[in-house]
Amino acid sequence: MPVRINPSILAADFANFETELGRITSADLVHVDVMDNHFVPNLTFGLPMVERLLQVTELPMDVHLMIENPERWAQGYAEAGAFSVTFHAEATADPVGVARHLREIGARAGLAVKPGTPIEPYLELLEEFDQLLVMTVEPGFGGQSFMPETMPKLSKARAAVRASGLDIWLQVDGGVTLDTIEIAAAAGADTFVAGSSVFGAADPDAAIAGLREIASATPHVH
Ligand code: DX5
Ligand code: ZN
Repeated sequence: MPVRINPSILAADFANFETELGRITSADLVHVDVMDNHFVPNLTFGLPMVERLLQVTELPMDVHLMIENPERWAQGYAEAGAFSVTFHAEATADPVGVARHLREIGARAGLAVKPGTPIEPYLELLEEFDQLLVMTVEPGFGGQSFMPETMPKLSKARAAVRASGLDIWLQVDGGVTLDTIEIAAAAGADTFVAGSSVFGAADPDAAIAGLREIASATPHVH
């Protein structure tokens, strides 16, 4: 099964992003967490930083917007050249409108759900999205523990995607390590965000290879 490993630069050295990006050359995409201190109780950076990061990496960028009002802000990231822009279902009353706008600009449109948010309502809108992100921690901070109780949502999403025949990536984000990636892969994930377990390793590219090996060898159980 093809899998994607997307290291999160939330766990990188914020004073040396260009160098840090050079340590993950085997990544499939680079995951960039935008936080506004309103949707989540933490603040990272916004569009000017993402525009600059895009200039110093050839990796496609997987932007994760943990912000309120994605109707206002999401399109800027697509226009800047992000490969994928994922926003939160809890942050907007019009996820379909936001997704359509992103796709018009040429980005893949992703929809994220927090651990307590049901996924069923969104499985009826599958054709509007290119990626679903099932958060496996409460969004806001790196280094938290993987929440296995979110896995039934992933299995439901995998079943719906399979039934649809659409090419929709199923992403997990939070607490993904060598010890937990198999659980997420078995439940149906094919795209894995990993912050601490990649940038906390002595050799981030080797950590990516280790994660990839386990995920690739794990069949979906449903
Ligand atoms: C958390 C972020 C994650 C974070 C994951 O809200 O969305 O992308 O970087 O970090 P780890 O892999 O350390 O749990
Ligand atoms: Zn993230």
